[in-house]
Amino acid sequence: MSLDAGQLFSERAKGFRPSEIRELLKLVDSPEIISLAGGMPDDRFFPIDRVIEASSFALKEYGKKALQYGSTEGIKKLRNLLIERMANEGVRDVGLENVVISTASQQGLSLVAQVFVDPGDTIIVEDPSYLGALQAFGSMQAKFCTVPLDGDGLQVDMLEEKLKELQASHVRPKFLYTCPNFHNPAGVTLSLERRKRLIQLARDYSLLVIEDDPYGEVRFEGERLPSLLALGGMEHVVALRTFSKISFPGLRLGWIVAREDVLSKIIVGKQAADLCSPTITQYIAYEFISRGWLDEYVQIIQREYAKKKDAMIEALNQYFPAGASWTNPQGGLFVWVKAPDCIDTTAMFREAINAKVAYVVGIAFYPHRNDNCHMRLNFSAVEPERIVEGVRRLGDLIKSKM
Ligand SMILES: Cc1ncc(COP(=O)(O)O)c(C=O)c1O
Repeated sequence: MSLDAGQLFSERAKGFRPSEIRELLKLVDSPEIISLAGGMPDDRFFPIDRVIEASSFALKEYGKKALQYGSTEGIKKLRNLLIERMANEGVRDVGLENVVISTASQQGLSLVAQVFVDPGDTIIVEDPSYLGALQAFGSMQAKFCTVPLDGDGLQVDMLEEKLKELQASHVRPKFLYTCPNFHNPAGVTLSLERRKRLIQLARDYSLLVIEDDPYGEVRFEGERLPSLLALGGMEHVVALRTFSKISFPGLRLGWIVAREDVLSKIIVGKQAADLCSPTITQYIAYEFISRGWLDEYVQIIQREYAKKKDAMIEALNQYFPAGASWTNPQGGLFVWVKAPDCIDTTAMFREAINAKVAYVVGIAFYPHRNDNCHMRLNFSAVEPERIVEGVRRLGDLIKSKM
């Protein structure tokens, strides 16, 4: 008898929908299309020789251990090194018992969702938000309460309004999810004043903050701002960090910092998910960082991505019509563009592919899918000349629609 898997799916899985964005992005996979749609580091700067050296040393030095299962928490050497790095950024009082190595930050998001979200629970997210976070929280059937962003990041006064409204309706949000540095997709950074205010609100309203910060170290202008974890401590903040953007996403490594009661739940969730993150890449990462190579690599990408970002902003100034607007990020990987006359960027996508240029449609990042006039442009993965040509093609297309 044939098996109808549809009868077996969980209620949760019944809600899983293939992302139409991924379907759209399949169209991008052709060399003649200039893709500003990615979110990847530029692999031309990967220091392959150094990674080979770190890897062969790791295998010689730790051989069997590196190829064996490790502890769910991750190898101690690496966690201690991360604790030291965080202390240099002003994050104090973090011990080994507060850090778990994750299979990059996407797993951090998924574990946070698993640990905190029951179906129908309200969580507060930025509008727009990182798509992968919306997927992780959505897969646990979270209900999204949104707070808009402006040039200084999350609008904290509006957050307070929402917190008051939720309180008045006796709804306790499980957490606020925020990406404070060089936001994906919006490129904006939460100002210092707002960071302090946000932590104060977290204290006043007993709010848990999930701080997702893949891009903070990829800063090419301005002063580095203290993290929410540094300002608020672990009582109110769970921090998700990753090696993906500051080094290589292929390591599939990140780390989660949280108070012990939270981390102990996360660890059980992680055991169920993957037992432990790859041991071998943890040793490679340790060797790479402890030789000072991570810091050197970060300096290279800061310098090179700055040039690419400048090329993109100049091209936008030159080729985009009046009425379009965009963010000018001080770091990260993305520029967020608002089309003039609120041109429908989802409908325009196929025409852009015909013009051999691609972007990510803005609607993907809105939890309530109520904004159709933005597009996310990536500058990290493309050479400056191609960035300029891609922006020119997009500018022409937009002008033809006005
Ligand atoms: C804000 C944000 N969080 C998390 C991730 C997940 O990255 P990874 O799992 O590679 O660490 C990304 C990737 O683009 C991101 O932009």
